[in-house]
Amino acid sequence: MGKYFTLHDFNFKNKYVLVRVDFNVPLSNGMVADDFKIKQTLPTLNYIISNGGIPLILSHLGKPKGVDESLRMTPVAKQLQKLTKHEVLTTNDCVGAEVEDAIQSLHHGSMLVLENVRFHEEEEKGDDQFARNLAGLADLCVLDAFGTMHREHASVVGVPQYIPTAAGLLVQKEIEVFQKIFSKPKRPFFGIMGGAKISSKMGVISKLEKKVDMILMGGALALSVYHSRGIETGKSLVEPVKRRNWENLLLPQDFVAATSPKGRAKNVRYDQIQKNMAGYDIGPEAIKSYKTLLQSAKTVLWNGTLGLVEEEKFARGTDEIARCLITLPDADVVVCGGETAYAVRKYSAKFTHVSTGGGASLEYIEKGTLPGIDALKKNYEKFQKI
Ligand code: 3PG
Repeated sequence: MGKYFTLHDFNFKNKYVLVRVDFNVPLSNGMVADDFKIKQTLPTLNYIISNGGIPLILSHLGKPKGVDESLRMTPVAKQLQKLTKHEVLTTNDCVGAEVEDAIQSLHHGSMLVLENVRFHEEEEKGDDQFARNLAGLADLCVLDAFGTMHREHASVVGVPQYIPTAAGLLVQKEIEVFQKIFSKPKRPFFGIMGGAKISSKMGVISKLEKKVDMILMGGALALSVYHSRGIETGKSLVEPVKRRNWENLLLPQDFVAATSPKGRAKNVRYDQIQKNMAGYDIGPEAIKSYKTLLQSAKTVLWNGTLGLVEEEKFARGTDEIARCLITLPDADVVVCGGETAYAVRKYSAKFTHVSTGGGASLEYIEKGTLPGIDALKKNYEKFQKI
């Protein structure tokens, strides 16, 4: 792993600092419904302020096509204000004269939340001039948007071409956690893989199966593997799987099935799902055997829920496995993926690490790097001598 700047390398005193965060958080009735990702950036923001810098906070929110009133950053800024003792101001755009004026009027101790960067189509296109305009707002940049580091967008890979850029404390922590569990995992090392789309996880599974002692599979992923073996999976949400041979893969021996998510739940063996039914959770036998196996775990990496957690009756597999993991003595347990992190949020503090990355963490596990990390390393090469 090459080098990159960290916060300790920079003198923030009287500097404007563009801080790219991932405040892409769920909203409900115009308010932030889950502020986990916002809270994770507080150490970085506090560090910058307490060292004399003024954070200009930049994020995307959702997938707007142009300006979208329902995706303005105002609710996020309000939540940030609630979480910090510092004044949090907002702007109607993230570049331009109005933003420059707002920056000039900022005083030390306050922060500015710039408007949703994806209101400009240039962001996702990685437009060079847009990146220069963003970089022109600040003296320094900090990338703390781990969940967005897999995107080759202007604010992620473009800005670091123009101003000295450090990894924020969150990005640094995420990188270190993943490096640790992959370079020297305590064994036995178990992967737990769930979720819906096996097509989006094949790369990760192929990487993981070489690293772990066993992958315990659940969710629609497991049903897709059974389906590929010619087993009846009824109306389950399966995707075609070409692969026939798997190393170290354990599938659930039973499921909780129903005719629809609202239908009556029934425990069935893996090969007894009827045509008019779908598997919506791993069954009690699978929970029991997974928990028994996990008792010996010293490292666990978990991505993907094991059932349809939005319905309480199909959330048991995920919940019981989470409760088992938090009781393991001396085990490093890392949870990644937005939906998984949300499903087990009440246990968050008891895991070794809950990643803020969804797609980013999967891509990082698969490839060992991300465009945002490569941008940080190039930035270090370019600015270390200045
Ligand atoms: C996420 O929520 O996973 C990140 O913010 C990335 O969002 P995106 O998939 O819209 O790029």
